[in-house]
Amino acid sequence: MSLIIKNIDCLVTCKGSHLKKGKEMQNAGIIENGYIVIKDDTIFEVGNGDGYKKYVDDNIEVIDGKGKTVTPGLIDCHTHVVYGGSREKELSMKLKNVSYIDILNNGGGILSTVRETRKASFESLVSSAKNRLDIMLEHGTTTVESKSGYGLNIETELKMLKVNKYLNKIHKIDIVSTFLGAHAIPEEYKNDRKKYIDTIINEMIPAVKDENLAEFIDCFCEEGVYSVDEAKKILVAGNKMGLDIKIHADEVESIKGAELAGEINAVSAEHLVAASDEGIKALADNNVVAVLLPSTSFYLMLNNFARARKMIDEGVGIALATDCNPGTSPTESLQTVMTFACFGMKMFPEEIINAMTINAACAIKRENVIGSIEAGKKADICVFDSKNLDYLIYHFGINAIRYVIKNGNVVVNKEN
Ligand code: NIG
Ligand code: FE
Repeated sequence: MSLIIKNIDCLVTCKGSHLKKGKEMQNAGIIENGYIVIKDDTIFEVGNGDGYKKYVDDNIEVIDGKGKTVTPGLIDCHTHVVYGGSREKELSMKLKNVSYIDILNNGGGILSTVRETRKASFESLVSSAKNRLDIMLEHGTTTVESKSGYGLNIETELKMLKVNKYLNKIHKIDIVSTFLGAHAIPEEYKNDRKKYIDTIINEMIPAVKDENLAEFIDCFCEEGVYSVDEAKKILVAGNKMGLDIKIHADEVESIKGAELAGEINAVSAEHLVAASDEGIKALADNNVVAVLLPSTSFYLMLNNFARARKMIDEGVGIALATDCNPGTSPTESLQTVMTFACFGMKMFPEEIINAMTINAACAIKRENVIGSIEAGKKADICVFDSKNLDYLIYHFGINAIRYVIKNGNVVVNKEN
């Protein structure tokens, strides 16, 4: 054995390697006075009381969990963490009530980040994204999904995905890659969107597959961006070439993006602030993970959040993520997202932790390896300075991490 965490006041296991849907999200598998025994990079045994004692010897590191809440390593299953530049100039436009889609259609928003990302070297994209990943790890995130989508040409889309691949190799955080060539229509194709869509299907997706640079394909399906028909064409083409489907759906307007997600068997549908009742039913019926991004809702200043309570009542499985990006959610912290999930969407602490661990693992098809604390799973674990789970959500605006354990190693240690 290599590491033991003992006497844990609140051990939140999130046990079970499947999508927790509806009411099942309320069970986070909490053990009082729990312990975890780790062997190399894997969880060996989980229990409560003194059961860990038989494994203690001089060579084992022991962490005391008294006064702590311990959870699976947090999984950020929707990010745009690789990008050039920043967009603080849009803040004053937003304060003057210029809408997000209007900023985009006037060459700002995503398109301004596209200009910066095209200009940026591979090295500078690595360096800025690495800084963001460092902050994520400090806040308890141990696995991250990362999308392309600020290239919108083959050269820069591949550059972004290669940055993901490189970061996955050098950074402690594991990175799962998503191809999002359909994030906006690039300015040079403004008057011929069909041609750009053909380029995505006939050139970009084959190149991504050729070099094995992504597992998922995504599309920003939204009024004024990609229509439902266009999204379907792109996503189905990607799926035929071996990429699993994700979709940015019904973020601002209800255009039946959630319904499409059900129809084409998407692994996940994301945002869903404006998803219709039928759309919510389609997600539940087809086991599509609803990835909700409440820090984006907050940041867009639209005064409305996705209908998490309705989704839970209808039996949907919800995951939560930061959406870390330079326009609508410039944050690396899933702890910040906990605050908005609770105070904006009225999600309960148990639901929130399931949504950032096992259900987030389902959104990136890693539920058999990570997302819960049980024997056989990877030892990715957060130790929070928090006497119980409610306290973790109640005390907001701080970083409550005491230790982060990744692959069985203590990689963040705030003990002084
Ligand atoms: O998930 N909605 C589309 N894409 C991102 C925002 C990207 C940006 O504004 O740069 C999102 O919110
Ligand atoms: Fe996004």
